[in-house]
Amino acid sequence: MKILVLGSGAREHAIITSLLSESEQHDIVAAPGNAGIARQVRTVELDPSDPIAVTEYAVDNRVELVVIGPEAPLIAGVADPLRERGIAVFGPSKAAAQLEGSKTFAKRIMEAAGVPTGRAELAGTIAEVEKTIDEFGAPYVIKADGLAAGKGVLVTSDRAAAVDHADYWLEHGPVLIEEFLDGPEVSLFLFSDGHDVLPLTPAQDFKRLLDGDGGPNTGGMGAYSPLPWLAEGFVDEVIDTVALPTVRRLESEGTPFIGLLYCGLVITSKGVRVIEFNARFGDPETQVVLARLVTPLSQLLFASATGGLAALPRPEFALDVAITVVIASEGYPEKSLTGRQITGIEAAEAVPEVTVLHAATDIASLTDAVDAGTWTSVGLVATGGRVLSVVALGSDFAEARERVYEAVGKIGLEGSQHRTDIAARVAG
Ligand code: AMP
Ligand code: GLY
Repeated sequence: MKILVLGSGAREHAIITSLLSESEQHDIVAAPGNAGIARQVRTVELDPSDPIAVTEYAVDNRVELVVIGPEAPLIAGVADPLRERGIAVFGPSKAAAQLEGSKTFAKRIMEAAGVPTGRAELAGTIAEVEKTIDEFGAPYVIKADGLAAGKGVLVTSDRAAAVDHADYWLEHGPVLIEEFLDGPEVSLFLFSDGHDVLPLTPAQDFKRLLDGDGGPNTGGMGAYSPLPWLAEGFVDEVIDTVALPTVRRLESEGTPFIGLLYCGLVITSKGVRVIEFNARFGDPETQVVLARLVTPLSQLLFASATGGLAALPRPEFALDVAITVVIASEGYPEKSLTGRQITGIEAAEAVPEVTVLHAATDIASLTDAVDAGTWTSVGLVATGGRVLSVVALGSDFAEARERVYEAVGKIGLEGSQHRTDIAARVAG
């Protein structure tokens, strides 16, 4: 199949790695990709969020399936003109992507579909914010409505900090005040064809920057899968109480959700609650989920895009466990220092069952000062916050942790940051 993958992160590198591992050979193009993706497939300079440019490329090049990785192209409506031209697209329409793009939209759908979630109130003024947070009590959860790349959410017990955060985001529109949901978080992804869903395997994301869940929220610093502590029947419960009601509600409103439904869940003492929906694969959870996927990914993506999920069995996953550790630039998430050289990837990949997925990487010129002047060469450099996602499989978490951290130790990037406690608790 001729497949166009939009995006440039480790999530897209994981999707492409999974597609390449199938026995069927695919013709894969990535736009724009990154240095790691470019070693494996053809990349094209195309703005993934430009609906016209993407559609023209797909039509001219007879692409059979477009896989939209990140949220920005979905919110920009890239899926719509592609579908109008009869091309199979994995990714919801602009209207259905509001499930991620607007927290207010998501809350409305959940309410209409009877999906369990925390209480939430929209506040348009500081006075409303203060009244609502005092009513809900600490810890306070304040969310900007709309995409804010992980920066719009503050969870804090510091009332003054909560008010400050709300004050800042109120300039961009109303903010959402939510009830604090207490319990372990689970990310469960489901393929959706607009009517039926098929679940992937649960994973856990480590959202905070520092060990022990300290520091600011990030896009995600690591993940593991499966979650051995989940109750039996968890996945079926989420399908019945969260995923299907949501998908059917969107279908009944004339905005079918075709693509990946990301359920961000908390297991509270009162049961499962939705924290958020996303309209695409999660990053870095995808890196561990797809590492364990046995069923050919292309079948699942194509069936989702073409209304064919009812005919497929549930995807199968390996018994092996998977861990990923994200290597981030100095300064992330506030202000990443970029342009620095990355070394040691080959040595890291020589560790058994380890794959290094690229996020923000490029090949660029490096200028080294040497005794007699400067010396210019080309090499791999970091171009953003989250730079690499190192993935290891193992027969248990202790083995996978040993492998992943041995590999992380071989990678050189001045000032880089990573967490050392990914999956530590389950490794025992
Ligand atoms: P979000 O962008 O909505 O996923 O929020 C980012 C992170 O903030 C989540 O993964 C949680 O760790 C935390 N968070 C968000 N909403 C809540 C909530 N209602 N209760 C507790 N933690 C939350
Ligand atoms: N890992 C969190 C996200 O993808 O939104």
